[in-house]
Amino acid sequence: TERVLGAKKELESLLASALAAAFPSEGDEAQWGRDVLVAPTANPKFACDYQCNNAMPLFAKVKGREGGPGNPRAVAEAIMASIPPNEILEDVSVAGPGFLNLRLKDAFLERRVGTLFAGEAAVDAWAPEPCCARAVLDFSSPNVAKEMHVGHLRSTIIGDTLARALEFTGVEVKRLNHVGDWGTQFGMLIQHMEEEGVPFDASVGDLQQLYKDSKARFDAEGDFKKRAQQAVVKLQSGSEESLGRWGKICDASRKEFNKIYDRLDIEIEERGESFYNPLLKDLVEELRGSGVAELSDGAICIFVGGSEAPPLIIQKSDGGFGYATTDLAALRQRLTDESADWIIYVTDSGQSQHFKGVFSAARKCGWITDEASSYPKVDHVGFGLVLGEDGKRLRTRSGDVIKLADLLDEAVSRCKEQLVQREYEFAEDEEKLEEIAQQMGYSAIKYADLKQNKSSNYEFSFDRMLDLKGNTAVYLQYAHARVCSILSKARVANPGSDAGDASKIRVTCEPERALLSTICQFPEAVESTVEDLAPNRLCDYLYGLTSKFTDFYSECKVIGSEEEASRILMCEATLKVMRKCFAILGMEPLERI
Ligand code: ARG
Repeated sequence: TERVLGAKKELESLLASALAAAFPSEGDEAQWGRDVLVAPTANPKFACDYQCNNAMPLFAKVKGREGGPGNPRAVAEAIMASIPPNEILEDVSVAGPGFLNLRLKDAFLERRVGTLFAGEAAVDAWAPEPCCARAVLDFSSPNVAKEMHVGHLRSTIIGDTLARALEFTGVEVKRLNHVGDWGTQFGMLIQHMEEEGVPFDASVGDLQQLYKDSKARFDAEGDFKKRAQQAVVKLQSGSEESLGRWGKICDASRKEFNKIYDRLDIEIEERGESFYNPLLKDLVEELRGSGVAELSDGAICIFVGGSEAPPLIIQKSDGGFGYATTDLAALRQRLTDESADWIIYVTDSGQSQHFKGVFSAARKCGWITDEASSYPKVDHVGFGLVLGEDGKRLRTRSGDVIKLADLLDEAVSRCKEQLVQREYEFAEDEEKLEEIAQQMGYSAIKYADLKQNKSSNYEFSFDRMLDLKGNTAVYLQYAHARVCSILSKARVANPGSDAGDASKIRVTCEPERALLSTICQFPEAVESTVEDLAPNRLCDYLYGLTSKFTDFYSECKVIGSEEEASRILMCEATLKVMRKCFAILGMEPLERI
């Protein structure tokens, strides 16, 4: 099937050719294709869908030329006059200091939306072009023997959505869980457990405590410290006994992590730090040999930002390798063995410096280029903190780190309460209630996270994320269920109707038009989500689409109206796009609430 472009893409190429024709000395069509500025209009009062904003900056370049335009409006008029004949634009007008207002033809919107009915999976043809062939998404990545915390939850949720968005566009995505499962701390922990007679199948809760205890002993007891160091050597030299115990500790953590992934429907492949351990020694030697790394104060370093910036230490003076060494080895392994074109890391912003260092080192090694636009490339998606309602880091009342399982449980139980209060029709059916409450609760947690501008801190509030009226998953779920119910009523009212005949779509009033115009923006919303690695773009789009649907539904009668056939198709088109958004955001849509 042929790819269906967003209206914005179509307008961009029309305007690029207009700009090239009107101002040939300023660039050809290809050049303008990169520089053309088209954006959807937020304000419906202009009665247009998009705006072109090239006239003002262009005037600044051409003003004062012989016979040239005297003001930005004249530039805009010249662009307008050069727009080739087309089937897309209804009306173009110059507004204000020189904006071009672009209104799409109703027939264009009708045809575009009609393509959603070309088969079951037609909405897949609306996916934007893949930006590359293969991506590695490094996300979630909790640490063994430690509890998975809300920072890991954010990484899990954001990473999963980015993976789904990329996959939708046709990029092959390898989702990797860079679990912290290696390091000297395991020697210490094993030694402590052995001395205390703790069986090696302890639960994660115990492991955390054992870890703290072993650390305290390590710092306070000189003799224990020595024994722990020997245990590290034993583990690192590959002793089977040590490795077996280490494996047991990892198993216990993995079991806990998987429970969270199952609940949230997250697919991810575990490939922890230990995987790269065998590569470290050779890598460091190689980089020393090539002169990229050098000895400094006994440590082996890569000087990445001139003499001022701190170097990236790839081997400590005691011979040990660290977090950065592993990441450097992983980066190369992903470029070579995984043939990744794009490697994306999702962690809190606190790790920005670390990734900056690793990426600069990779550039110094010549593995990736300096240019942000050329592949293979790497990106760190840093996100802000999750705060409690007191504005401080989210904690339990007693000040402990919140357990993710508890957080999910609470979301579900609050949703149950809400459903019962609202006299949900299946409230008596325990199993059904549990299932719906889970879908609602998990989507609420995900959406509350995804809709944030990822770099800002956000306040975690059950009350707000479960609000029926705000920009919440609960609101979206009710809207989705509403569309489903309209459609099932329509089916009952018109058995065997010609629903699905896309040629019946017809714009007769403004709310219909606004809805169709928004539906047509779907490819652009996905594209900017992927380009900017920003799930909130898709959330904003979905919320906007839902509001446009709400306006449409409150102003336009569907069943029993003259426009019934057309309006049912509009509801169906809305549903198709809504569901795709839900799928990319990892939210299970509810048909009946
Ligand atoms: N385990 C790390 C943490 O909990 C996150 C790892 C992120 N990925 C990476 N390749 N460094 O902070």
